[in-house]
Amino acid sequence: MRKINPQRVFDTPCKHSGLTRSDSFRPEGLLSVSTCMDTDFRQEMAEDVLSGMTGSVKSIPCKYLYDAYGSRLFDRICTLPEYYPTRTELEILDRNAHLIMEFFTEGEGSLIEIGSGSDLKIRSLLKGLNREGARHVRYVPVDICETSLLRSAHRLLDDFPWLCIHALVADFTRHINHLQDGRKLIAFLGGTFGNFTHEQGVALLKGFAGIMSGRDRMLLGIDMLKPPGIIEAAYNDQSGVTAEFNRNILRHVNHRLRADFRLDDFEHLAFFDPDREQVEMHLRARSRISAHIAEAGLCVSLEPGETILTEISRKFSRMRAMDCFDQAGLVPVRWFTDANAWFSLVELAVRAG
Ligand code: AVJ
Repeated sequence: MRKINPQRVFDTPCKHSGLTRSDSFRPEGLLSVSTCMDTDFRQEMAEDVLSGMTGSVKSIPCKYLYDAYGSRLFDRICTLPEYYPTRTELEILDRNAHLIMEFFTEGEGSLIEIGSGSDLKIRSLLKGLNREGARHVRYVPVDICETSLLRSAHRLLDDFPWLCIHALVADFTRHINHLQDGRKLIAFLGGTFGNFTHEQGVALLKGFAGIMSGRDRMLLGIDMLKPPGIIEAAYNDQSGVTAEFNRNILRHVNHRLRADFRLDDFEHLAFFDPDREQVEMHLRARSRISAHIAEAGLCVSLEPGETILTEISRKFSRMRAMDCFDQAGLVPVRWFTDANAWFSLVELAVRAG
């Protein structure tokens, strides 16, 4: 039995909430949890919302779309007929998991999943393990939401009872350096990378590159450019789940920061901007609106038609993607895609020298 010692796995600044599961039916499978969330989440959210809502263009960072309800809505988005990214990425994973997971044939290592969310994709990867790989792999899901981390870890152990899981509650934009030394394959899937601007994205990749040695790999999921009609349909579904998901950011702000936004005062707006090669998701004021955000000490007003930007989702050409990798000191080793080249899974290594 390989026991994971949290002290060795992660730097000391992490607070360890200890083992939450280690039962006698599963002598080898083990789940432990560490948290890096030292700061006051509400305080941080108040600062983010304050700076976002007082800029010349109003915005709220997209990470606040994902409270418990928002995460459930996102899971529903992933099953919508219009939302092609999830099933396309999954198709690529299913087809290539055995190749990707060969990484663990050679020796022990961690499969680190950044912003893990739902467990579908990791299941697909784990199914690609061969015998040696299964003995060598340790799964390290990293997510800001402890509840969803634990829920999917437990579900995973039902089907992979031999798996060692070391869950890390952390903000991957701030806590990358808490990840362990040792062989690792960092999976950053789902196209979340596209939610960052070019500069932010390069900085993030640089951070990952900084903890990778020459033998480590990163698996990055990116959504590719395609006819705008297909992209726009994915963010404007018929059943209105994406609209609900978008408006929920205000419910989250109301709840956490004692604000009084009325969700019905806003309409969902999502469009593809061909110049910036990105989808923008906004909430548009149906009328003149004023709202109070108590915890941020702020009164905001919006003109009719004025919008709050809630998310960007970039769509890449190979050239643009290569540009990001290059600037971050990473090089593609293998490039996996689907028959339409709608989505890419890029295996990256740090550039030598
Ligand atoms: C999970 C962040 C990649 O940008 O497509 C889905 C989130 N927003 N529908 C995306 C999302 C609206 C999604 N990411």
